[in-house]
Amino acid sequence: AEPLRIGIAGLGTVGSAVVRVVTEKRTELARQCGREIVVTGVSARDTTRNRGLDLSDAAWFADPVDLAANADIDVFVELIGGDEGPARGSVEGALKASRHVVTANKALLAKHGLGLAEFAESRGVLLNYEAAVAGGIPVIKTLREALAGNTVNRVFGILNGTCNYILTRMEAEGLSFEACLKDAQRLGYAEADPTFDIEGHDTAHKLSLLTSLAFGTRIAADEVYLEGISNITQADIRAAAELGYRIKLLGVAQRTESGIEQRVHPTMVPTASVIAQVHGVTNAVAIETDILGELLLSGPGAGGNATASAVIGDIADIAKSRPGFQHGPVFGRPVKELTPYKRAT
Ligand code: HSE
Repeated sequence: AEPLRIGIAGLGTVGSAVVRVVTEKRTELARQCGREIVVTGVSARDTTRNRGLDLSDAAWFADPVDLAANADIDVFVELIGGDEGPARGSVEGALKASRHVVTANKALLAKHGLGLAEFAESRGVLLNYEAAVAGGIPVIKTLREALAGNTVNRVFGILNGTCNYILTRMEAEGLSFEACLKDAQRLGYAEADPTFDIEGHDTAHKLSLLTSLAFGTRIAADEVYLEGISNITQADIRAAAELGYRIKLLGVAQRTESGIEQRVHPTMVPTASVIAQVHGVTNAVAIETDILGELLLSGPGAGGNATASAVIGDIADIAKSRPGFQHGPVFGRPVKELTPYKRAT
């Protein structure tokens, strides 16, 4: 079979890791997918930095929109970030040119996901976004594929690696919030603007995608009840510990008598509970359904290799798909309404 040609926009922590793994595992991926995967185009803001990558087969594009529409790629991989600007423009451009798209961009999907999904479906191409939620944990595939036929009652978990890393180190080492955040940034976990992490927006973006998949709702990140961790102090953490609890930033979406509610806030979880054992950059997603029961997935939630793992899985899916094969809906059509979260008084 012909090689699958991919164009990668954004060569930061994740983009560089994707190129590195695809290059190093060329033979192994070809065996798994039945065809080679070759990076034939790249676009990055900084063209001079030496990233130590083998880009010998790739053409450079100053503008990701030009890369997206380029005739020499089959798949456009968007790793730029941001819910508008070049990320949105290039993804739309790629779909318009009938290219498959793989993205890790939760902010973009939280805002424009259904429209982009419909666009992809109308073009008969795939829009894969496993890396957008919980880093390397295959939760999108789990909800879309493995749990088909289950009715989901609740999805909740730790969806932001930066926050969990901060809370873990504040508790274990008594460090300050600021020092932990700096380290999370240095390790490549945090968003370009870390406010998205610590104020809970990133968790809300990811939760809104899970909610839509799990319950068949609109994607509505702006309707998530939201509280971040920036006000959490050592005193809060110590007080919780004395009572036998640990503070975790949770995203929760659940079926209630009045509808589906979504919320993100710091939560006291019993120290002995499974979710309290999720430390550092690890994420965890719990899914409660009628026929399977309770499922808990956990694994690395941020960082170059973890996120690249999910991106490459999505690329491999496309490499294995056959021309003319009709793909199903990207999110499924919204059928249920969301209910605003009401705080217990
Ligand atoms: N900033 C995000 C996090 C990256 O810390 O979880 C992964 O989406």
